[in-house]
Amino acid sequence: MRIVVLVSGTGSNLQAVIDAVKAGELDVEIVAVGADRPGTYGVERSAAAGLATFVVDFKDYADRADWNAALTKAVASYDPDVVVSSGFMRIVSPEFIDAFGGKYLNTHPALLPAFPGAHGVRDAMAYGVKVTGCTVHWADAGVDTGPIIAQEAVEIAPDDTEDTLHERIKVVERRLLVRTLAELAAGKHA
Ligand code: GAR
Repeated sequence: MRIVVLVSGTGSNLQAVIDAVKAGELDVEIVAVGADRPGTYGVERSAAAGLATFVVDFKDYADRADWNAALTKAVASYDPDVVVSSGFMRIVSPEFIDAFGGKYLNTHPALLPAFPGAHGVRDAMAYGVKVTGCTVHWADAGVDTGPIIAQEAVEIAPDDTEDTLHERIKVVERRLLVRTLAELAAGKHA
């Protein structure tokens, strides 16, 4: 299974995928890692791991449609079976998702459909829920919407900050993402 991974930041979830592939625990080929802006640690660590990387900088395009078209072209050039949004913080167009047969996987640090968006951890804390978690799902063109594949709960501790909670969620999220990719590679969730 050929995957292209899209990142906007640190790429620690991506690193878990890279590590699992290297350890022979995950039978997928990361054919490229792309970002929506230059200078991300996600792209830097991918290049260091010897992976192909690309940037389709949102700022280089006149509008969202132009950027979406360029992103679609860049990703398509690697002919992926599945595209993974791993901390990719931009909404893609329905045309992008169609171009990859709907195989656009996203991971989110909350129990969707609760707390979608860029601040899932902060929003859960602000609401005062006692349990949050993470979700891996097929993404559509909405904000963290689409059919859910896997979820796991994480309790919020009274002394949690957004950072401590997000880090604990990410520990679970990395495992869930790797496991879901392994299941996809084995032909599940088609
Ligand atoms: C992850 O927690 C991911 O779920 C979240 O960004 C983080 C990226 O971390 N994505 C979203 O909030 C999407 N709405 P990473 O760059 O260290 O993998």
